Amino acid sequence: MGINILGMGKYLPEQKLKNDDFKKFIDTNDEWIRTRTGITERPMAGWEPTWYMGKQAALAAIENAGIDPKDIGLVISCTATSDFHTPSMASVIQYETGAVNAGAFDLNAACTGFVYALDTARRFLETDESLKYVLVVANEALSRFLDFTDRSSCILFGDGAAAAVVERSSKLYSSVLGSDGSGAQLLCARTLDVAPEVAVESDFEDPFPKMPQHKLLQNGKEVYKFATNALPKSFELAAEKIGITKDDIDWFVPHQANVRIIETAAKKLGVPMDKFVITLDHYGNTSSASIPLALCEAIEKGMVKKGQKLALIGFGAGLTYGGIILEY
Ligand code: UT7
Repeated sequence: MGINILGMGKYLPEQKLKNDDFKKFIDTNDEWIRTRTGITERPMAGWEPTWYMGKQAALAAIENAGIDPKDIGLVISCTATSDFHTPSMASVIQYETGAVNAGAFDLNAACTGFVYALDTARRFLETDESLKYVLVVANEALSRFLDFTDRSSCILFGDGAAAAVVERSSKLYSSVLGSDGSGAQLLCARTLDVAPEVAVESDFEDPFPKMPQHKLLQNGKEVYKFATNALPKSFELAAEKIGITKDDIDWFVPHQANVRIIETAAKKLGVPMDKFVITLDHYGNTSSASIPLALCEAIEKGMVKKGQKLALIGFGAGLTYGGIILEY
């Protein structure tokens, strides 16, 4: 069983940071950022909460799908940058979009979140016939977790949201979800400390690096190495399951972290770069929102057309990876 993407929508914060704007906080320059990452500017949520961006993207997707939100049976929000530990972003978005008959939960697979969430949606549709539509929302405010004194990471990320309304269909579909938790320390942001009222002395050695609370810490070089293998692997494993090859794919929609990672993956797969949707130049890395933002923009521009075969391939903290091959 496959899925049909009925409609997509996106929301981008009003504020943008251009490469040169970072000179106010750190020793950097436009040329370094452009040549090492491919990024020129990125949207930054100056006032918008994560749930608000998700809600706006979801409303646009619902309108685009032309459905009644009351017919949505499930809302899955993928985010690594929720506004709250609880409630979930999905519960807030479920209420805000009028999806009054839907269950709702959040899913965190970091930048691979949309691949995980879309695949989860398909599995729910397959096993619960009473579900008509699932709303998948990817919403991220990375800027809240960035260390703006760390020049190797703060320039990479952007904020935004994108959403899709999906239904079951008999269209082509394959997926793979993977994780290598041995790399969990390579990209992480802490939540809360032990409360002083209950803290006790212990010999426990925390394997995770010490870091300023909440701030994102990244070993860029190691994540880079993982990413250049994870992207082609995600495609190859999903393609193998249904016996198709790279030549059957019209568009590759990769996680948008660094254009050099995508170029290396394209070379490994033997696929020309003009088959890859690239939006990171103007969005930066928006974590789980990056793949659906790229897909939504490519649909809006008329690049991706109904009936075409797509490969959505991602990687991220965890370290996670995953791929979906589907017909649009
Ligand atoms: O969603 C998953 C997210 N993460 C990723 O995908 C990140 C993967 N990693 C990367 O994209 C790259 O490793 C980075 C973009 C993070 C770094 O690029 P790099 O080519 O690996 O640079 P580097 O870390 O080897 O640094 C080279 C030099 C260093 O200076 P020295 O030691 O050679 O003097 C850095 O201090 O570039 C310096 N540098 C900068 N210079 C100007 C690092 N960041 C900056 C900066 N501006 N923003």
